[in-house]
Amino acid sequence: MKTIVGVFFGGRSTEHEISVISANQAIAAFNPDKYEIVPIYISKDGHWFTGRELLTLSNYRKPEELLKKCTEVYMRPVYGDFNLYAVKKSLFGKDVIATLDVAVPVLHGTNVEDGRFEGVLETIGLPYAGCNTLASANGMDKITMKMILRADGIPVVDYVWMTDRDWTTRRDEMIAKVEKELGYPVIVKPANLGSSIGIGAAHDRDQLIERLDDAARFSRRLVVEHMVTALREINCSVLGDVDEYETSVLEEPIKAEEILSYGDKYMGGGMHAAQKRIPAELPDDQAAECRHLAGETFRVLSCHGVSRVDLIIDDATGKVYVNEINTIPGSLSYYLWEAAGLSFENLMDKLVKLALKRRRDEQGKTTSFSQNIFAMGGGVKGGIKK
Ligand SMILES: Nc1ncnc2c1ncn2[C@@H]1O[C@H](COP(=O)(O)OP(=O)(O)O)[C@@H](O)[C@H]1O
Ligand SMILES: [Mg+2]
Repeated sequence: MKTIVGVFFGGRSTEHEISVISANQAIAAFNPDKYEIVPIYISKDGHWFTGRELLTLSNYRKPEELLKKCTEVYMRPVYGDFNLYAVKKSLFGKDVIATLDVAVPVLHGTNVEDGRFEGVLETIGLPYAGCNTLASANGMDKITMKMILRADGIPVVDYVWMTDRDWTTRRDEMIAKVEKELGYPVIVKPANLGSSIGIGAAHDRDQLIERLDDAARFSRRLVVEHMVTALREINCSVLGDVDEYETSVLEEPIKAEEILSYGDKYMGGGMHAAQKRIPAELPDDQAAECRHLAGETFRVLSCHGVSRVDLIIDDATGKVYVNEINTIPGSLSYYLWEAAGLSFENLMDKLVKLALKRRRDEQGKTTSFSQNIFAMGGGVKGGIKK
């Protein structure tokens, strides 16, 4: 019997389109003899749809027409109900479209890659590939991520963080803090977006103000970082779970501007066309350091499935820092695994197996009790103590 895999993609995210591309790549990679794939597209306003038409990228040029040909579906937030239901019942009253065995979220960005979607799946109890809610949330927020990594001795560049309220009400204090702790130049980022949105460099106070005003349009949490000017960027994918993981070959993305922009990353014929060098040309010790830090980042954040850790090398000092983790990386980083000898098909196989393994591991833990304290002798005395 084939395993029925729900591949979820799209979503209320600035990286919606990138997710559509990644998911289509992943769906095509599954071995059709072993898996039956149910594509589930989440529209920009958060509605779920399924249908074969979702598998042709050119159909997304006219989303309204595409969705008219698809079936709107939902899942109930009920533990153990793995059915995908049609919103509109068919003529014969049949409303179960499919019963999923496992979910593979191929969602990028805020609202979806940050653990919210994983929380839905955990509530339902459906096994799924990739990081759980905790690891996803920690990995998405650039501030929380840095705090955790730093606490575990993983090098991150110096930073100052603030809320948008801090920025509007205590501007002078915030500027003084940045200038005292970091100095210029700095990079300003919204804490929880991706694809370089809202990110920019500031070389003086005026630019800092401009950048923070801009970043505050995107997020309530803001981070200002020391800018590495002699910058080399290296990415490394990690696959597995906290108990057992492997690191991929390294890639070096090539940027055309001061920071790697949305355009550098995605324009010019899809993600695969982005300029990159695989494997990155690095001295052996630096390459080993990058892979070690990538693995450590995955481990310390308790990641699962396939992630991509982005590192920064300061060429002036040779020091390597962890910049960020993408817990659902673009194209699921398949090209880094292919280069390491693992086919995309085998990567998808591995992700499903890891999802089922986690389920088995978790089922061995006690998380609820069948005892009813109300039915026990003595009753519940003296009100509820907390
Ligand atoms: N501390 C830094 N110093 C220099 N350049 C940086 C620094 N942080 C980020 N950048 C540049 O900005 C880009 C986007 O930043 P990143 O933290 O990766 O955000 P995103 O989540 O949007 O990818 C990086 O790929 C890099 O080119
Ligand atoms: Mg990045």
